[in-house]
Amino acid sequence: MIELRQLIERFNREMDRAEKAGAYEPTAAAMSTVGPGGRPGVRMVLLKETDERGFVVYTNLESRKGRELAVNPWAALCFWWGPAATQVRVEGKVEVVTAAEADAYFASRPRAKQIGAWASNQSEPLATRQVLLDRVAAVDAEYRDRTVPRPPYWTGFRVVPDRMEFWYGHEDRLHERLDYRLERGIWVEKILSP
Ligand SMILES: Cc1cc2nc3c(=O)[nH]c(=O)nc-3n(C[C@H](O)[C@H](O)[C@H](O)COP(=O)(O)O)c2cc1C
Repeated sequence: MIELRQLIERFNREMDRAEKAGAYEPTAAAMSTVGPGGRPGVRMVLLKETDERGFVVYTNLESRKGRELAVNPWAALCFWWGPAATQVRVEGKVEVVTAAEADAYFASRPRAKQIGAWASNQSEPLATRQVLLDRVAAVDAEYRDRTVPRPPYWTGFRVVPDRMEFWYGHEDRLHERLDYRLERGIWVEKILSP
């Protein structure tokens, strides 16, 4: 029987292989969410953690994606590693990581990025770019000699997969597709036509 742990190990092996093949930013993925009326949205994110439970990305709960996930907690990730001709798709329900996990990851970030997380109301309109730069300066001054705490709206989402696909590019569009779906608690493997 296939276990999620094995699919995630396979993902990690493929990402290593892609990195060795020269893939630029192999942790970058397109992440789609669904908004009002079933309208999809997609943007790039960086994968920060994989463990036996799923795939974690960090963002702002008040961003467009954060708001969409609060209403409809389903997401899809798509990785493309050109030099390895490999695509990986991950779909599933999303959960917010624990405060302790988010705190630990936030604390590991460079200070300038921590300040950026406070300064930016992600996805909200900005009158000018200068407004953002002024906010950065103000937050920097506020925390001059102090540890920058994690903003309450900044956290991680874990995509807990119930579907994954590994796609390997071949000549003459005879690509290989390995599709895995969780059906009544059992992972089912199928080879799909390219
Ligand atoms: C390569 C790349 C990686 C990115 N990584 C993240 C990320 O990990 N988290 C994040 O919130 N935004 C990330 N962004 C910015 C998002 O693409 C997006 O602009 C932002 O999250 C706002 O999206 P939203 O308005 O749909 O919520 C990244 C952008 C690029 C190009």
